[in-house]
Amino acid sequence: MITPDLTDGLVPRVIIPPDPDRSLALELVRATEAAAIASARWMGRDDEHRVDRAAVDAIRPVLDSVRMNGVVVIGEGEKDASPRLHSGERVGDGTGPEVDIAVDPIDGSMLTAKSLPDAISALAVAPRGALFDPGPAVYMQKLVVPAAAAGQVDLDAPIADTLATVAAALGRDIAELTVAVLDRPRHEKLITEIRQAGARIRFLLDGDVAAAIMAVSPGCGVDLLVGTGGTPEGVLAACALRCLGGQLLGRLVARDAKEKKALRKAGHDLDAILDTETLVRGGNVFFAATGVTDGPLLDGVRYDDNRVITQSLSMRSRSGTVRLIEGRHDPARSALINN
Ligand code: FBP
Repeated sequence: MITPDLTDGLVPRVIIPPDPDRSLALELVRATEAAAIASARWMGRDDEHRVDRAAVDAIRPVLDSVRMNGVVVIGEGEKDASPRLHSGERVGDGTGPEVDIAVDPIDGSMLTAKSLPDAISALAVAPRGALFDPGPAVYMQKLVVPAAAAGQVDLDAPIADTLATVAAALGRDIAELTVAVLDRPRHEKLITEIRQAGARIRFLLDGDVAAAIMAVSPGCGVDLLVGTGGTPEGVLAACALRCLGGQLLGRLVARDAKEKKALRKAGHDLDAILDTETLVRGGNVFFAATGVTDGPLLDGVRYDDNRVITQSLSMRSRSGTVRLIEGRHDPARSALINN
């Protein structure tokens, strides 16, 4: 809140109330920058495991230096087989606000290992209890639409109807829409239906967090994201959408009967539609992401003029401010690089 203060009668001043949390936004960017810089060293070296490990090893000490009492709710999941940053793990220096953490030190390890676009490091922090805990849910059906179509789409509607709704909301023809879909055999029918409806497809080899953000960010060349992807990535994307606008609808997907049983036992309703507000409750989430490889959303890590250059997004839902931050790091002096 900015309160005009005209008491001196001469110079109008604004008083900005102190907000102890505000500096958190920059602290989080430092963490994703560290992960991006470390993992980008493994770009194109065809070693996903090293990419992932470098990101986790680099982000952990930076997170632990942040003044917060954090618990990982969304962390390195079953798919990443990482021994660290697991759900329930404590992060932060143990003082400061009690918060939930959603962290994907690298979304797109394979993309980085093969120097393909759209790999990012992403992190979100919200007050304790705000983040949806997916428990054993590995996959989630997702639909992400831009702000203009928010509130008008239905996860269960035929994709042709969804495309017609989004096209109308954006004032375009369906043929002028680009739909991001993970390139997976499970999406064969969906892809056929999108093609029949006449929209274009941007196939994702991996990395649907960046694609979800692109779908709600003008100028990225993606108008919506559909299909089934990781649940942790869905919660992280929802954190970004709370800051940016747009809508994410999701539903947990069990891969087999055993997983269905485990999800039910954990209290999940497999028919429930999860929207952005269910995935991230309350109005105060911080989100940071740094590009690892180049993409329409963020430039990847570059080396230039004796500097390591990063591009990051920093945002907060309470203020709605979105910052695009270029970091120019000195390898000889930066603690992020020398950790
Ligand atoms: P990682 O980089 O952590 O391996 O995840 C990449 C990713 O593509 C996510 O962006 C996406 O949500 C999920 O994996 C899709 O899972 P799958 O590869 O099993 O279809």
